[in-house]
Amino acid sequence: MKGIFIALEGPDGSGKSTIMELIIQYFNEQNIDFISTREPGGTAIGEEIRHIILDKKNKNMAAETEALLYAASRGQHVHEKILPALEAGKIVLSERFILSSLAYQGVGRGLGIEEVRMINDFAIKGLRPDLTLFFHVDPILTLERKVSEEEGDRLEKEGSSFHKRVYSGYMELLDTYSDNLQIIDASKSIEEVFSQSIVYIENIIKKREEIL
Ligand code: TMP
Repeated sequence: MKGIFIALEGPDGSGKSTIMELIIQYFNEQNIDFISTREPGGTAIGEEIRHIILDKKNKNMAAETEALLYAASRGQHVHEKILPALEAGKIVLSERFILSSLAYQGVGRGLGIEEVRMINDFAIKGLRPDLTLFFHVDPILTLERKVSEEEGDRLEKEGSSFHKRVYSGYMELLDTYSDNLQIIDASKSIEEVFSQSIVYIENIIKKREEIL
């Protein structure tokens, strides 16, 4: 595959969206051929699935249904958008990917990391990012801030024990899924977090240019 697949990961409120905007601005300034996207969502079908998953009305959604919906959104995302862009040699920048399902559904919902990995691998044929930037920050403080500001979607509204489990899930996964993964201290200033992200992104672009 000629392109480069980059995923941004981390707990709710870790500042991913802000850094994503700055990376997009940077890619535009550098005339880099890229697409930016997000999960759940990223395609018309995926955005409809996102609406169902995050709708506050869907309080009685089973954990299994939730995991399958995230995987369905991801399957559509990969086949319709990510793979064609990578084949065309573009950089794909995605806010969240499979690691989110392993942490939130696998550990947060207690479905099991392996079980969630399996349904996802069926949906996405084992595709993994070439680089994952993990924005590390204590989730409890940031989540309280986010929920009080915006009232929160169905997942954000889950109690702090759910988000603590998600956080410990991520910590477990950082050890076992460390391939192509870089941890960034997201408690630092936006400028520092952004410039650290760019260092990792430039490294992978340079490596890819050497191979091609
Ligand atoms: P967002 O706020 O980053 O757009 O993501 C929406 C919510 O969905 C967020 O609380 C994290 C959650 N999520 C999962 O639980 N599993 C997943 O696979 C993904 C992609 C997101």
